[in-house]
Amino acid sequence: STPRRLALRGDLLDFTAAPRWGDTDSPAVRFDRDHWLLIEGGRIVGRQAHEPDASWVRKDHAGQLVLPGFIDTHVHCPQLEVIGSYGTELLDWLERYTFPSECAFADPARSRTGAEVFLDALLASGTTSAVVFATVHKTSAEALFEGAAARGMRLITGKVLMDRHAPDGLRDDVVHAERECTDLIQRFHGHDRLAYAVTVRFAPTSTPEQLAMAGALCRADASLYMQTHVAENRAEVAWVARLFPEARSYLDVYERVGLVHERAVLAHGIWLDETDRRLIAERGAQVAHSPSSNLFLGSGLFDWPSANSSGFNVSLASDVGGGTSLNLPRNMLDAYKIQALRGERLTAWTALHAATRGAAEALQLGGEIGGLSVGQTADICVWDWASGPVAEVRDAAARELHERVFAWMTLADERNLAACYVAGRQRV
Ligand code: GUN
Ligand code: ZN
Repeated sequence: STPRRLALRGDLLDFTAAPRWGDTDSPAVRFDRDHWLLIEGGRIVGRQAHEPDASWVRKDHAGQLVLPGFIDTHVHCPQLEVIGSYGTELLDWLERYTFPSECAFADPARSRTGAEVFLDALLASGTTSAVVFATVHKTSAEALFEGAAARGMRLITGKVLMDRHAPDGLRDDVVHAERECTDLIQRFHGHDRLAYAVTVRFAPTSTPEQLAMAGALCRADASLYMQTHVAENRAEVAWVARLFPEARSYLDVYERVGLVHERAVLAHGIWLDETDRRLIAERGAQVAHSPSSNLFLGSGLFDWPSANSSGFNVSLASDVGGGTSLNLPRNMLDAYKIQALRGERLTAWTALHAATRGAAEALQLGGEIGGLSVGQTADICVWDWASGPVAEVRDAAARELHERVFAWMTLADERNLAACYVAGRQRV
């Protein structure tokens, strides 16, 4: 059972603003060593240095790192079983592994167990909120919404739209798809902590008519999210150019139908140009950077500094099953290595911010998730600073905060997760 008043003790770390690129010493970082976080009715109601009185049930995580639950802004529920598939780039990977595997989600029972295993795996990885791809099947989105509601999770998902260039059993059509979207929106969007995302898989698998329908859904209700893939892989970009010769760029295919807006989550964005970057910034959309996937599928090296100077939001995503880990610290390490290959350096602050407050703000959910401020929902993960003898030696040697957190980010994975609270209720 969940106590009405809960107090967590530990080293509290979150952000009050976006850290500047390259700053290892940042005024945006709020670190309160050995503090108490007070939780009542599922929300954070206080932070203090002294121990609260006996009216609070106390959880002593002294000497552990307390972070906001991570937000994974791009991940595929039905792809757990294709993680680590050998030997292909994006288009072959979709055809050989991903599409055949997604067909099974036509079955409601398979969708339900798939959603439950997936959501529990997110929590066990330290992720409490996510923007998720279901499959083309309505039942796969229903199962995710119902599973997230049962766990009290903030979840954004939608039925995948794809009406061409996909195998039998994985295509819808414009009229039927629109009807299913409308029904799902009515039943789930804005209920509990759920929101609907108009989910265009990517430009090649939707006809121009379906893209127009998706744009019309977004125009009719500005509170809807939109999620899709853009400019991930060079062969994919070339294919889109052949399919949509009238578009200026891959991103422009979406822009022309009104899909690039404040609530749009664009996965990857590796092969964008300056005009694309300006447009994303102007529209207030975000790119869900998926470093593990980009390395695993050999897609390319995301230009984070240019995104930063263009002024658009970059959040962090696992893109499982293209990515190989749901755990966001593992993805932060991959993000660091990508920038290192480009001759740049990613601070732990920018990486952590992208997985917490940055993602929350970009999703227009900053009041609810992504931080440890009074008034926010108590989605909180507690992490061991070190797991195992190597990490212990490294942690003990750290002299200042960025060094310590960066080493943590480099070495941590889900084995470091000590506890996970969703709206104040312990789930791990
Ligand atoms: N592009 C279209 N579909 C997918 C997908 O499932 N994964 C990735 N990484 N890219 C895509
Ligand atoms: Zn993806």
